[in-house]
Amino acid sequence: MCMMSFSVIISALVCALVASSMASDIKSANPSAEARALLESGWWGKYSTPVNTYQSHCTWQGIICNGAGSVTSIDLSGLYVGLELRNLNFSSLTSLESLNLRSCSLNGSSLSYLTGTLARLTYLDLSQNLLTGQLLISLTNLTQLTRLDVSDNYLSGSIPSQMGYYLKNLAFLDLGRNNFVGQIPSSFGSLIRLTHLHIDGNAITGPIPTTLVLLNGSLANLDLGDNQLKGLIPFEIGNMTKLVSLVLRRNNLTGPIPATLGSLAKLNYVDISSNPFNCTLPSELGSLKSLGVLRLSRSLFYGSVPRTLGNLTNLTLLDLAYNQLQGFIPPELGSLNNIVSLSLNGNRLYGPIPPSLGRLLKVTYLELGRNKLNGSIPQALMQLTKLKFLSLTSNKLVGAIPPSIENLSSLNFLNLSSNQFDGLLPPEIGMLSNLRTLILHTNQLSGYIPVFRYCNFQYLDLSKNQFNGTIPDALGLCNSMIHLALDSNKLSGSIPKKLENLTQLQFLNLSSNELYGTVPACLCYLCQESSFDFSHNALDFVNTCQKNFTNIQGNSELGEHKKGKKNLKTLYIVLPISLSITFAVLALVLICWRRFARNQSEGLDMKNGDVFSVWNFDGNIAYKDIIKATNEFDLRYCIGTGGYGSVYAARLPNGKVVAVKKLHRIEAEDQAFGKSFRNEVEVLLNIMHKNIVKLHGFCLHNQCMFLIYEYMENGSLFCALRDDAEAIKLDWNKRVDIVKGIAMALSYMHHDCPLPLVHRDISSNNILLNSKLEAFVADFGAARLLCPDSSNQTILAGTCGYIAPELAYTMQINEKCDVYSFGVVALETMMGRHPGELLSTLESSQPARRNISLEVLDSRLPHPTNEQEQDILLVLNLASACLSSDQKLRPTMLAVSREFLTAKGHSSVTRFVKNTENSPGQCDNWENICSESVASNECLICLDE
Ligand SMILES: *[C@@H]1O[C@H](CO)[C@@H](O)[C@H](O)[C@H]1NC(C)=O
Ligand SMILES: *[C@@H]1O[C@H](CO)[C@@H](O)[C@H](O)[C@H]1NC(C)=O
Ligand SMILES: *[C@@H]1O[C@H](CO)[C@@H](O)[C@H](O)[C@H]1NC(C)=O
Ligand SMILES: *[C@@H]1O[C@H](CO)[C@@H](O)[C@H](O)[C@H]1NC(C)=O
Ligand SMILES: *[C@@H]1O[C@H](CO)[C@@H](O)[C@H](O)[C@H]1NC(C)=O
Repeated sequence: MCMMSFSVIISALVCALVASSMASDIKSANPSAEARALLESGWWGKYSTPVNTYQSHCTWQGIICNGAGSVTSIDLSGLYVGLELRNLNFSSLTSLESLNLRSCSLNGSSLSYLTGTLARLTYLDLSQNLLTGQLLISLTNLTQLTRLDVSDNYLSGSIPSQMGYYLKNLAFLDLGRNNFVGQIPSSFGSLIRLTHLHIDGNAITGPIPTTLVLLNGSLANLDLGDNQLKGLIPFEIGNMTKLVSLVLRRNNLTGPIPATLGSLAKLNYVDISSNPFNCTLPSELGSLKSLGVLRLSRSLFYGSVPRTLGNLTNLTLLDLAYNQLQGFIPPELGSLNNIVSLSLNGNRLYGPIPPSLGRLLKVTYLELGRNKLNGSIPQALMQLTKLKFLSLTSNKLVGAIPPSIENLSSLNFLNLSSNQFDGLLPPEIGMLSNLRTLILHTNQLSGYIPVFRYCNFQYLDLSKNQFNGTIPDALGLCNSMIHLALDSNKLSGSIPKKLENLTQLQFLNLSSNELYGTVPACLCYLCQESSFDFSHNALDFVNTCQKNFTNIQGNSELGEHKKGKKNLKTLYIVLPISLSITFAVLALVLICWRRFARNQSEGLDMKNGDVFSVWNFDGNIAYKDIIKATNEFDLRYCIGTGGYGSVYAARLPNGKVVAVKKLHRIEAEDQAFGKSFRNEVEVLLNIMHKNIVKLHGFCLHNQCMFLIYEYMENGSLFCALRDDAEAIKLDWNKRVDIVKGIAMALSYMHHDCPLPLVHRDISSNNILLNSKLEAFVADFGAARLLCPDSSNQTILAGTCGYIAPELAYTMQINEKCDVYSFGVVALETMMGRHPGELLSTLESSQPARRNISLEVLDSRLPHPTNEQEQDILLVLNLASACLSSDQKLRPTMLAVSREFLTAKGHSSVTRFVKNTENSPGQCDNWENICSESVASNECLICLDE
């Protein structure tokens, strides 16, 4: 590797001579000195596009020259490799007008290397690098600068006030997200051309200088958020008439809010949240007619919600959460007919929910919880068909939950807990097909738990109510369930064995009911943690659960001294019942066995078109054919075994070879399960993608279930990488293509399918290779579809070593988990082995500071050519971004696949930096990027371009 780069430098030097001799033909200041300066920097030739020995430096990557052959522009943005600022001798580059080194992992302890000779420089972008030290005075010589961006570095010290005197042409100044201290220089008031000033995310103290208001001619965009500013918002702010976006959030500013703010007619985006304002809200806010976003949360505002806010008809987001606002919710808010997100939670609002809110037809996010609201849920609210998130928790609401809740068909999150709702839970709630979280605890709901027809729950909490009857068997079909709480009700009967199907379950509380009988063995198995609670029932643990459970006390057979009257009584009832159940089960087993034996022989005779035949596979393959082709699943035909079952190769009568995945689990006799299985499979059957293993069909037989896939000649990527001979066949180009293929498949499943499908178990085991060594993702949907073999239960779907870190402590299963696993597989493909502890090294370093060195590459392959190196760097950089421990910082698969599509050889990787900011402007399409159960509108991002 060293030898390689040495020879590159030699050839680069030769190139410099050639280039300079060529350049000397053109009359110019001193292009050869420029070329030498560029070469000696080491920035070209080593990491970026190789220097072409016979071409002038004007053709090198990122360089633009003027007619005289002098460099006017350098743009190396997005190159992740570490450049040293001091290595480029800027004093030779006298014609330089534009320098863009954004995201280059640029090192340097000071900017003094940018000397005053750069007198023509107008554009300087050094953002998202590793620069430290002070923002030195030499910058003040750059009097022509119109744009200066040093955001996202580690610069420190105070902001030089000279900038305000010398950089008179600045229109754009971004000093955000550094370590600057001290005050905002009042000299900034002289930067009269400034339209954009960002100093957010530093440790700036002192007041907002009133001189900033002198920028009244131009300033459109002001962000001073995340500092330690104190004092008032100057009332002169009313003169900054061009202001479009004002961000002062997370400072130490105090009230009152100047009424003059109301005269800023262009203001579109205001975030002054998280300050100790401790004052009332001026009604003049209602004059900000252009306002799209208004964030006023967590700022100690008291008094009433101004009625005038109802005039802000362009508002899409209003956040007043966690203040001390009192009084009624003004009915005028019903006029906010563009509002998408409305948060009034965490205040002291009382009175009824105004029915006028039923006019907010665009609202998707409505949070009124933690107030003192009373009355019942207005019928009008049931017209909000776009609603995805509704929380009315912790109020004093009464009455029944209206059956018309069925209308809220987009609802994903519903929290009505800690109120005084009573009556039955309407069965219509079971029709909400998108509902993932339902929290109804601490109410007075009674009657039976309804059947949830679609049951897409991840989180269901019905605890602390008066539900009676048995736990519905159908809950066992909710196989996405992670958190299930039914405790402190009046539920009786035994725990349905079907709950064993909830393999994702991480929390189960059935305590304080009247349950009896045995605990299903599988639940016992899952119940390793204290997060499973069966206490205070009449359950029998003696024969089933042999483990040391902590949460089973208060059941009949435990604590001999505690056997109360009631428990004894239950025992008298339970004993005969369980005896007769045992006999019934025995009888059933006998009957089933005989039926099975009969069907087995019938099945062998059945062909074409009967209920058990393989669906959708040319219409002419039957159970019998598969049985025959695999010689009744003879081990000789077995080509692999996984969590869900064994895979067999079957040559069909028509000569075609298919892979048959035989599932261990027998669920087919359950009608409902069979139906949901079929629905899911039908979705998968319709997926056509170049890089997804085609599912041809499946067989649903009452004693066996199998899936039929396209056959992949070269087995799994995992095996290929571990076999030296195979690994060498996978050369660099093939490996890059494999990673691309996986990215395309995931992007398609996440973003182009009618329902986004998360794989959940991306690992090199699930990437299969065809005869041309092209990658195919296998088992899409399987994690969601199937129950793992009960002897092989894992609480998490997924393979150890590929699971996103957040899954260990949150319940968030979403696309970003696949993105993480993709990152692992991409690295593994390049390294030839699982990245192991490299993952934890990457996780602990900051996203902007990571580099994966080429030294990790698989040493069994020859050193990549320069062109291959570009592609490999792209893969490594993307993988590194995908492996961010913060899932918000991970790119989407769409972004990754676009990077692959746009980068042709010469990679220019756009950085995936925090993108959670709501940009000013109207937004039609908000997305909640946080876990649904922690959703707050801090988590909303705008998806509009
Ligand atoms: C602000 O505007 C008012 C008139 O609206 C004017 O009298 C005042 O001088 C202006 N202040 C500054 C600092 O420009
Ligand atoms: C905010 O201001 C208060 C009172 O002026 C002070 O006690 C507190 O330390 C300040 N907080 C910060 C983070 O500067
Ligand atoms: C409100 O939004 C609409 C559509 O975006 C726009 O045409 C209109 O000018 C806006 N109104 C104001 C007062 O900004
Ligand atoms: C603004 O709202 C107030 C109170 O709701 C109302 O009286 C006033 O007419 C509104 N102004 C405009 C311009 O709509
Ligand atoms: C269950 O609760 C409902 C409503 O309170 C009641 O009518 C019914 O009798 C109860 N059933 C049982 C079995 O306790």
